[in-house]
Amino acid sequence: MSGQARFSDKVVVVSGAGAGIGRAAAIGFAREGAVVAVLDINGTAAQETRAEIERAGGRASAFSVDMSSEAAVEDAISRVVTEYGRIDCAFNNAGIRGARVDIADMLTDEWRRVMDLNVTGVFLAARAEMKAMRARKGGSIVNIASIFGSVTAPGAAHYTASKHAIIGLTKTLALEAIRDGIRVNAVAPGGVDTPLMAALEGSREAAEARYKASCPIGRLARPEEIAESVMWLASDAASFVVGHTLVVDGGYTLL
Ligand SMILES: NC(=O)c1ccc[n+]([C@@H]2O[C@H](COP(=O)([O-])OP(=O)(O)OC[C@H]3O[C@@H](n4cnc5c(N)ncnc54)[C@H](O)[C@@H]3O)[C@@H](O)[C@H]2O)c1
Repeated sequence: MSGQARFSDKVVVVSGAGAGIGRAAAIGFAREGAVVAVLDINGTAAQETRAEIERAGGRASAFSVDMSSEAAVEDAISRVVTEYGRIDCAFNNAGIRGARVDIADMLTDEWRRVMDLNVTGVFLAARAEMKAMRARKGGSIVNIASIFGSVTAPGAAHYTASKHAIIGLTKTLALEAIRDGIRVNAVAPGGVDTPLMAALEGSREAAEARYKASCPIGRLARPEEIAESVMWLASDAASFVVGHTLVVDGGYTLL
């Protein structure tokens, strides 16, 4: 792959890398020289991302893993370490939006489904990654938050609570990890043109129309624009950035 090589020969783990933001980040890291471990619950989608990276001349492996399962996450991270000998960077991105439903009507199972992946899944991944990184006294982790880590909307209690939690979790992780030279940060995207957004709004066109009207920049983000911020946070260019949540929202939360 051509272009910059900020991640030359680095081993990078990306979860939820079968689609959307995660896929764009996996492709971006690989384009800049990384060997990418593509993790996704959808094994076929993970293989498609791996194949796309390899077609462009990059290096990747695909892993079918449910990031909300402790055993599956531990197994996947240990397989990456066995295969590549180390982990340099991780983007803990897998997440779901959950059904749009008011708290009064929200099923406990639906609340748990969102929290299990969006919060516990990031905790499980970061814990396993930090153990691997500690051995080498360095590394960089980026967690996925959202503008729903600072604002909200009706029907999004589970998602909002989960993304607020990620910002707090990232701060504690960052304080603990920096003792071993590991930087932990988060990225908080606004509306992004992904399958998740299309499903939430009913269609891609409906999502585009909503953000054209409501977001100061007048459009959704391309997944690659979020990936760029993730790569910056993960890179040595952000060497003094610790425990920060970078809002990348086209001005959405200014209003
Ligand atoms: N799209 C947006 O507007 C937006 C905005 C802010 C934050 N985010 C966050 O970005 C992340 C990615 O969102 P997206 O829009 O790219 O989503 P997406 O649904 O388009 O892609 C998510 C990927 O994660 C995978 N996945 C789902 N459950 C999983 C699990 N249990 N284990 C492993 N992989 C799993 C899916 O198979 C899919 O490939 C999420 O955490 C989301 O909350 C998205």
